[in-house]
Amino acid sequence: MKIKSAEFVISNSDVSRCPDSPLPEYAFIGRSNVGKSSLINMITGRKSLAKTSGRPGKTQLINHFLINGSWHLVDLPGYGYARVSKSVKKTFQKFITAYFEQRRQMLCAFVLIDSRHDAQPIDLEFMQYLGENGIPFCIIFTKADKLKPKALERNVETYKTQMLENWEEMPRYFITSSQSALGKEEVLHYIESLNEQ
Ligand code: GTP
Ligand code: MG
Repeated sequence: MKIKSAEFVISNSDVSRCPDSPLPEYAFIGRSNVGKSSLINMITGRKSLAKTSGRPGKTQLINHFLINGSWHLVDLPGYGYARVSKSVKKTFQKFITAYFEQRRQMLCAFVLIDSRHDAQPIDLEFMQYLGENGIPFCIIFTKADKLKPKALERNVETYKTQMLENWEEMPRYFITSSQSALGKEEVLHYIESLNEQ
C-alpha cells in the first residue's frame, strides 16, 4: 500500500473524545521506549509525524493520525515506565484500557517488543489481558538493526517458546527496524488486508 497522506488529527486522554469515526484503526502499544512512535514514522514514511525521544515516557496521550484519508494509526503512551509517579501510571493504565475496551473500530493492536530482550512479565500480562478481552493483536519485534541476524533469529525463537507456554499458537508477528525500514511492507500489507475485510 502506498502512503499518499498522513496527518495528525487529535491527542487526548479521554477515549470519548477520540475521533467519532467508523474508519478502521490500528494501535501501537508496548513498553516505554520500545519504538512505537518511531515505527509510526517509519510505516508512514514521515520523519516526524509522531514525536519520538531517547527518553522513555515521551508519548503521554492517545494520538490519532489519519492515513490516506481512510484509516487511523494510533500512537499510545508506553506502559511499564518506572520513572513516572504511581498516580500518573494509573491514569495511563485507565485510559489505555478504556481505549482498548471501547474502540470497536480498532481492528488490530500491534504489541511492540524490543527484539533484544527476553519475554517480560508486563508484556505477557498485557497480551493476556488483550486475549481475555477478545481484542485482536499482533506482535512487532522492534529495533532489529541492533542485533546480528543470527542473534535476532535466536531471540525470536526464544520468544516464541516463551509465548507457547501460555498460548496455543504464536500470534502473527513482524520483525521490524525503524532505522532500516525492515518490515514496513509486511505491516502495511497486513493493515491493507484488514482494511479490505
Ligand atoms: P514512549 O513514547 O516514550 O513510550 O516511547 P516509544 O515507544 O514511542 O519510542 P520512540 O519511538 O520514541 O523511540 C525510543 C528510542 O528508540 C528513540 O531514541 C529512537 O530513536 C529509538 N528507536 C526506535 N526504533 C528504533 C529502531 O528500529 N532502531 C534503532 N536503532 N533505534 C530505534
Ligand atoms: Mg512514543
